[in-house]
Amino acid sequence: MKQARIVLGVSGGIAAYKSCELVRLLVKAGIAVDVVMTEAATRFVGPATFQALSGRPVWTDLWDARDAKSMAHIELTRGAMAVLVAPASADFMAKVACGLADDLLSTLVLARRADCPLLMAPAMNVEMWQQASTRRNMRTLAGDGVRLLGPGSGDQACGETGDGRMLEAVELLGHVQALAAPKVLEGRRVLITAGPTEEPIDPVRVITNTSSGKMGYAVAQAAADAGATVCLVSGPTALPTPAGVTRIDVKTAHQMFEAVKAQVAGAEVFIAVAAVADYHVKQYSEKKLKKDERHPGLTLELAQNPDILAWVASQPGAPFCVGFAAESHDLLQNAEAKRKRKGIPLLVANQAQDAFGRDDNEITLIDDTGRHALPRGSKSSLARLLIAHIAELLPPT
Ligand SMILES: Cc1cc2nc3c(=O)[nH]c(=O)nc-3n(C[C@H](O)[C@H](O)[C@H](O)COP(=O)(O)O)c2cc1C
Repeated sequence: MKQARIVLGVSGGIAAYKSCELVRLLVKAGIAVDVVMTEAATRFVGPATFQALSGRPVWTDLWDARDAKSMAHIELTRGAMAVLVAPASADFMAKVACGLADDLLSTLVLARRADCPLLMAPAMNVEMWQQASTRRNMRTLAGDGVRLLGPGSGDQACGETGDGRMLEAVELLGHVQALAAPKVLEGRRVLITAGPTEEPIDPVRVITNTSSGKMGYAVAQAAADAGATVCLVSGPTALPTPAGVTRIDVKTAHQMFEAVKAQVAGAEVFIAVAAVADYHVKQYSEKKLKKDERHPGLTLELAQNPDILAWVASQPGAPFCVGFAAESHDLLQNAEAKRKRKGIPLLVANQAQDAFGRDDNEITLIDDTGRHALPRGSKSSLARLLIAHIAELLPPT
């Protein structure tokens, strides 16, 4: 069998040092790596380091004439399973969003064929990441089918804290391996809900929860990587749409219910990851509620929302239904009870306070054969394990 090969683009950011470890991990996983560096990247890490780690020549120059017969900006991506740019600087993302090609890396990105996906792992200072221009470029790239991996959040090399950290090498390795993932859901239609819902109180106020949508989006990406046609019904989140996934945006639980009803026909798998509000405000106020000094308290009457998962599971010819239980106490007992109550074959249990908003999670899968505890890991890696588990339980087509 031909060895899998990837082109790793390194642009000018401090996180270039993490890409050295990434090359080591990729090579260890049996994936050949051709490293292409921008001029700025060579200021952070020398090409000799990448050459030693990859065991292959490193490319930095569009005008490199070392192989007179071929042109690196075209040949390098032919036969490669993907181009991964890590770190992707703000500058490099802007360049690709505009279709510029003024150095070797941007030119080979532009010259790659449709069967060679482009993945980017942004890495930059939090202010650079939050800049309107960067947000705009990110949306353009996502719309063009570029897979944006991260960034993560936390302490930054510049001493500031926030979004913009490049994902760890081991996580990026997982994304590359996902490309070569077995297509266990090939030809299957999968419907997924994700994120929180917002229940309006008045024109400017809502009742919501702290779900970030990260787990549901990771599941959607893993299902798409496994070859499924994926529709994602999403509550309000700040996340880019996973590559290859159709996304329908909703706000309230009722809107989510309507969207699911409209999409469920033909779905073979339904995965309810969304943290749907159990209640909505009974009397929505058309006018913004005013603070009344004479009445220090305010009572809102709430009414129950529909149970979307239970409804789908009760339909004749229902898809294979998977639920998520986020509990703050007695996790596994509550999760087992929820699985029985909803009449579903598979339930994913996670500790609410550990799961919401984080990039990692710890989950237990509960099915007819019992409990399957998965070790703590990134939401992406857990999503892939979940999809593999679902594929095993699915009746054959
Ligand atoms: C010390 C230093 C650290 C930098 N770190 C980053 C970074 O982490 N992310 C980023 O987008 N730009 C960073 N920059 C700015 C880029 O290196 C600069 O925009 C450069 O033009 C990027 O070129 P390239 O996109 O062709 O690689 C840094 C610059 C310096 C001097």
